[in-house]
Amino acid sequence: LRVAVLVSGSGSNLQVLINAAQAGALPIEIVGVISNREDAYAITRANDAAIPVAVLSHVASGKRMSIKTFETHANAQLTTWQPDVIVLAGFMRVLSASFIDNAPAPMINLHPALLPAYKGLDTHQRAIQAGERHHGCSIHIVTAELDAGAVLTQALLEVNYKDTADSLQARVQKGEHQLLPWTLLLIAKGIIDLDNPPEDTKSSYL
Ligand code: GRF
Repeated sequence: LRVAVLVSGSGSNLQVLINAAQAGALPIEIVGVISNREDAYAITRANDAAIPVAVLSHVASGKRMSIKTFETHANAQLTTWQPDVIVLAGFMRVLSASFIDNAPAPMINLHPALLPAYKGLDTHQRAIQAGERHHGCSIHIVTAELDAGAVLTQALLEVNYKDTADSLQARVQKGEHQLLPWTLLLIAKGIIDLDNPPEDTKSSYL
């Protein structure tokens, strides 16, 4: 399975994929990484693993690259890599409907909440404030509507009374590190067909 990864930050999820692929534990090839931030640590991780990287910084030379310019470059780059799936792993820029529709492969996103609950930002704080007993993370198909495409997989955890947004974030991130390789394995095996996503979400408890 040829996988392209879009990142904006630390890239710990990217690292999990790199490690799993290198260990032969996951039948994927990471064909390229796109970062929209030139200071993302994910770039170092990709370089260390000799994976092609395109840095399409939205703050290059002090000027914000327009989303249109970013998308034109990103689409061209992705097209040359010929991915089977494009993974948004901590990618923090909203993409346009036309980019999503014209992407050279289906796109999936990792979101730190149990969708459809808590779309958007500050998910951990909002889950605590609402008194949720359960929280977690989801992988869903990217559609033009933010965090709203079909949910493919989820990792669930219990919230306990001592949890803070930070402690929850740490546990959710551990969940992400299991959920992402697991989901790609299900895609590689054909258990999840991205062109015809299953209606029932596959979930695992942490
Ligand atoms: C993840 O927690 C993701 O859910 C959030 O950004 C984080 C990315 O982490 N939106 P990393 O860059 O993979 O370390």
